[in-house]
Amino acid sequence: MEKKTVFSGIQASGSLHLGNYLGAIRNWAAMQYQYNNYFCVVDLHTITVPQDPATLRAKIKEVAGLLFAAGIAAENSVVFIQSDVKAHSELAWLLNCITPMGWLHRMTQFKEKSEKQKEEVSVGLFDYPVLQAADILLYDTHMVPVGEDQKQHVELCRDIAQRFNYRYGDVFVLPEAHIPPVGGRVMGLSNPEKKMSKSEEKKEDSIFLLDPPDQIRKKIKKATTDSLRDISFDEKRPGVYNLLTIYQLLTDKSREDIENHFAGKSYKDLKEQVAEVVIESLKPLQERYHELTGEKGYLDDMLERGAIKAGEQAEEKMRQVTESMGLK
Ligand code: TYM
Repeated sequence: MEKKTVFSGIQASGSLHLGNYLGAIRNWAAMQYQYNNYFCVVDLHTITVPQDPATLRAKIKEVAGLLFAAGIAAENSVVFIQSDVKAHSELAWLLNCITPMGWLHRMTQFKEKSEKQKEEVSVGLFDYPVLQAADILLYDTHMVPVGEDQKQHVELCRDIAQRFNYRYGDVFVLPEAHIPPVGGRVMGLSNPEKKMSKSEEKKEDSIFLLDPPDQIRKKIKKATTDSLRDISFDEKRPGVYNLLTIYQLLTDKSREDIENHFAGKSYKDLKEQVAEVVIESLKPLQERYHELTGEKGYLDDMLERGAIKAGEQAEEKMRQVTESMGLK
């Protein structure tokens, strides 16, 4: 049987954090042997909000390096930078011409982000989900492994594909989001009502993948909990629930075993143990990251190879798309 295709993307808008890892990247690495995989650093999405050019350039490389460091292997997966494959912008334009504005007005991420920026909001931010649809549809993707916050975007992509196929024939595969049952929404440490994010403003909220051990200990020590005592998976107590979920994801133990393990222990014990588990889990990734970024030219070579492979598939798809629309 032919292998199915997986595509997912990640922005270079800040530092990658434990939410990105548990909700997305580590699942990409684990799934890669069963599928054809494309993993993309979506720099064109990143510039939908203002970025400093030098910082962006460095972050693109950092994010790509972290994908390889997390165990994504070039033998199984094509890793590339979005702007290296021009077909992404090109297909986004073609899809723009068939996507109703009303569909984009309904996107909750746009509503949230545009509220903060008011009149400064770019057309690109509004159009963001169409570019995301182009990413996915170029590769005949069956599955899109993402965290919970991307579910609506993947559903929109499906709607766009369906509309296109209805007008122009069976050109696109209809993709499905693949969200982990646990870990699809890792919450912030200081504000566990909000998801952990790349935002640099609230550094204490996120554990970044390259944080040194001391920093991780400090951040978890300060994590918001509550005034109760017992340690149990209770969603109504988001701080403790989030710490326990992180522990669960990184130890692979059952919730029952974890509750028994922490029975009679204090929040201080919980935090210390969560911190140690996080530090141990990130250690191999951090080591690999420093190793591979220390090897001159390694990352650039890998990304160049990725862009060539992705470009071949994308060009083939663009031929089908332009032909079906009457552009060729
Ligand atoms: P981005 O860069 O915000 O996040 C990358 C991946 O990490 C997941 N994620 C989380 N998972 C659990 N808990 C969290 N706190 C958390 N924060 C982030 C995201 O769900 C995502 O899977 N629009 C996308 C990038 C994108 C894309 C694509 C994704 C562009 N094109 C095509 C899939 C397919 C984004 O901004 O992800």
